[in-house]
Amino acid sequence: MTTGIDLGRPTSGDVIDLITEDHRRFEHLLSQLRLATADRDNVRRAFADVLIAHGEAEEELVYPVLRRTAEDVDAHDVEHGKEEHAEGNQALLDLLELKGTDTQAFTDAAEKLSNLIAHHIAEEELSILEPARTETSIKVRFDLGAKWAARRNELIDEGCGAIENVRRVVAEAEAEGLLDEEE
Ligand SMILES: [Fe+2]
Ligand SMILES: [Fe+2]
Repeated sequence: MTTGIDLGRPTSGDVIDLITEDHRRFEHLLSQLRLATADRDNVRRAFADVLIAHGEAEEELVYPVLRRTAEDVDAHDVEHGKEEHAEGNQALLDLLELKGTDTQAFTDAAEKLSNLIAHHIAEEELSILEPARTETSIKVRFDLGAKWAARRNELIDEGCGAIENVRRVVAEAEAEGLLDEEE
């Protein structure tokens, strides 16, 4: 639940374009989060909604299909992507758990989150999305675009970035062993 921040509401298109547009939204929100003059609490809650919705919808709907259809996307790429989602979600949770937004702890948590997300989106675009742009058919990409967007929007509507839900998502990732070790 945030005020005045546009999270976008894609409904159709090539899933590769929709996902990369959302990545640009992440970058913009993270830059806002770093601004001392911004309403950082509002920005972190907006970022939580879009990051959780985006990643959950990717794992549920997009990764399995791209793994099947794009020759250069293999099980390792998908597993690694999930591990990076788990790490990013953990860093998001650490940021959400902080009371103040003008503290050194907030600065440190925002820097860590920014770095992890920047790393993940670059790697996802290079190792998963761009190969799929040439190897997965346009029909599959558009079909997936509509499904991913609908699921993303639905999760945002459910308030998936609420701290209790982020705690649940991180606990599940931990139980699945996705937070075990660095690669
Ligand atoms: Fe993504
Ligand atoms: Fe991702």
